[in-house]
Order: sequence, then structure tokens, then C-alpha cells
Amino acid sequence: MPDPIALVPLPRSVVWSEGMWETTDPWEGLSVGLSEDLPATEYALSISPQGAALSAGSEAALADGRNTFAQIVTGADGSIPCVTIADSPKHAWRGMHLDVSRHFLPVEEIETLLDGMALHRLNVLHLHLTDDQGWRVEIKGYPRLTEVGAWREQTLVGHMSGDEESWTFDGVRHGGSYSQEELKGLVEYARRRGIMIVPEIDLPGHMQAAVAAYPELGNFPEQQVGVREVWGISDHVLGVSDQVFDFLRDVLTQVAGIFPAPYVHIGGDECPTGEWERSSQARARMNEWGLTRVSEIQGRFTTFASEVLAEQGKRAIAWDEVLETHLPDDTVIMNWRGPAGVAEATARGFQTIVATSDLLYFDHYQADPADEPLAIGGKSTLEDVYTGRLLPKKMSADQERLVMGLQAQLWTEYLPDAGAIQYMAFPRLCAFAERAWGSPEQSWDEFQERLRAHLPRLDAFGIRYRPLDD
Ligand code: ACM
Repeated sequence: MPDPIALVPLPRSVVWSEGMWETTDPWEGLSVGLSEDLPATEYALSISPQGAALSAGSEAALADGRNTFAQIVTGADGSIPCVTIADSPKHAWRGMHLDVSRHFLPVEEIETLLDGMALHRLNVLHLHLTDDQGWRVEIKGYPRLTEVGAWREQTLVGHMSGDEESWTFDGVRHGGSYSQEELKGLVEYARRRGIMIVPEIDLPGHMQAAVAAYPELGNFPEQQVGVREVWGISDHVLGVSDQVFDFLRDVLTQVAGIFPAPYVHIGGDECPTGEWERSSQARARMNEWGLTRVSEIQGRFTTFASEVLAEQGKRAIAWDEVLETHLPDDTVIMNWRGPAGVAEATARGFQTIVATSDLLYFDHYQADPADEPLAIGGKSTLEDVYTGRLLPKKMSADQERLVMGLQAQLWTEYLPDAGAIQYMAFPRLCAFAERAWGSPEQSWDEFQERLRAHLPRLDAFGIRYRPLDD
């Protein structure tokens, strides 16, 4: 995939090379550079017949300016408009989450999504690398994670409704994984577009694929489980042996080494406690750790993972369930269960990312389900994304300061390939990006009008999207 800037024929010779714009006449005089006069988050871009200049207060702001320039050029039809822009984002975290566990997505397709993100000045890709249905990251010393844990023999067809007897399966083996080198390449591809990749290792639940690869990581090693072939929440969570904690240390340390981002997401969502309740080893551990409730075992995992990451100079991010048991003060809470969680997390002093499922889960239908491809459920229309309430009604200024930003989610149970993912992501991501950036609010009608003019840019990138309603 060529760089985005090269996708459209330019009226003049403008070439992207090694992090610099190179121009030939009449673009002499183009300058790109950091400026100590600008605040760290701000960039200033001016394009005139004499040339173009981009300056910014930091590398991140420079990337924002570059992406704005790419956006202008990508939309240019025979000429580039003269503009002067000075801008800075409202939110530091303008994220998109991508689940590559439920369905594996080849690296080139993630790159296309990164191009689409950059075009909208989104700056964080949260990569959900592990779950019950597939382990996707190479971990040295644990070859079975990808030899076994990355593959399922078949996948449920349709929704997991009715009784088990009525379920049908596709009979198709599905899987794949990324080598550490491939992921480092992806990190660099993203970095050049101003995007940080934050990996997620979901623990201590959503671990069935790892337990399938190494039964000793589970609570009942004698019961062999396979990689999960249906959706929903698995009961097979991590066990509590020293070996499990050694495993987590190895995984988190290696993952921290692959991804230079200062954060690693440690999951923490939807962890059933049934196995721990039935396990004599878990009971013994509770005594040893002085715990009274089984659910507090999760707090031990949160604390342990955070400590390992702190040794690597990184902070843990976790889904908001971690608020229910012990967690370190510097944990970043990713809130998916609605505005009440944002209120609670910020009232307790935690930095928070708004990823609320009612509006920002882009695996939900975007229109009447009768007219749409099968999706997981729920509904969040383009208008909902542009206009819906994301924050709790009442928040103090201190609480608002703790909101790092917003994130859109792409869970892939029902999104088997790149085309399906793009269709669900766009154009909702265009509306989301404006809110994440903090663009001046406009009416829904005005937004739609601008969006119509913007869609040819998605065409230029070869990105699929749901057509607008007439
Ligand atoms: C989640 O949707 N389980 C974070």
C-alpha cells in the first residue's frame, strides 16, 4: 500500500519522503518543522501559491498537521486550496479499538485501517490481541500459543441463540498470528502516521485460547479445553499457580518490548469466578493472600500485571470492571459500560477513556437490522454517534480533566474480514473523529453535507463504507 499522499494524482509535485514533504517548483519554500513558539498540542499549516508551511509544538502535533495536509490533498480535485489553519485537539486519546482475536486480520488490512485513522487524525490503535477464540501474538518460549491457541477448527454460524443443540458451525478452520517482527513493522507504519499502537492482553478472563494451548495455565489442567468456537463469555479463566504468574510476566514483558507505547491494556472485563470457586488451589491462595471474597482474586491479577508493566516503565489500562476489586491508583480506566462508570472512575481520581458501548461499539447495527448485514446486536446510527451523550450529565471540572479521550470499538465476532470491518467503521468513524478532535459542533444537517464531500477521500483510499441515507 503506498503512502496516502501518493494515492491521488497531485496537481504539482509533492512527494512524501522519509518523514519530510519534498516539493518541486512551484512548491519551493515548503517548510516542515517543530516550533518552540507553539504549544505542544498545536500545529499551524499554511498553503498558498508561494508554498506550504507546517510547524508544530511537538512531534505528535506535527503528525496531526501532516494528516490534515494529507486530508486536504486527498480531497483535492485538480488543485489544492489555499488555507491557513492553526489547530489543536480537545482530547489526547483519539482511539480506535480493533479485535483481531475473534477474526484474524492480515497486517496489510490493519495498515489500510491505520491510513483511514490518520486521515481522520485518530492517534491510538488499541489492538485486542488475545481472547478465548484466538491468541494472535508470538511469545518466545511459548510456541503453542500460536501453534495451537491461534487456531479454531470451526466457528458458530449466526447468533448464539436457542439451545446448544440448535447451533450450527461453518466447518472452516480459522486463525493466524503475528510474529514479533511483523508487529514491530506495524508499530513503525503507525508511528509514521502519528498513531500509537496500544496492545491488549486480556486477563485473567477471556483466556481460553491460552488455556487450550497450555492446560496448566487453567484451573483444572486435567480438563483439556479447545480454542473457543462460539461467542459469549468463557468460564475458562487463568488459574492461580506460580506458573501462571510467571507466564504473565513473560507475556507482558515481551509485549512491552514490542510496543513502545507507554501503556499496555490488560483487559480485566467479564471474568467469571466459577472456576476459582470450585478450585481448592484458589481457596488456598485466598488464605495465603488474606482475601475473603473470590472476586478479589481478580485484584491480585490487576496488581501483578501493573507491577510487571511498571518495571518496564509502562502503565496499565483496563476495562472498567477492574474498579470492583483492588487496583493501583495509576490504572487508566477504559469505560465501556456507560456514563455511570465514567462518573465513578473520575470521582475516584482515575484517568479514564470513554469507550461506551451504547454509542461507540461499532459492531452494533448502524441502521435497521432488517436491512443490514448480521451484527452482534444493539444499534448506534451515524446520527447517534455525532450527537449522542458521551459523558455523564454532571461532572466537575476536576473529573473532566481526568477524561483522556474517546475510543470507538470494533469487536469482530460478526466481522469476518476487512470489508466487513470497514463497512461498520465508516462513516461512523468520521463522526466520531470530529468529536474526539473537538471540532466545533455543527448541526446534524451540516455534518451530513460535509460528510458527502468527504466520502470521495475514503474512495481514494479504497475504504468501504455504508452509503449515506438519502
Ligand atoms: C467488553 O466489551 N467486554 C469490554
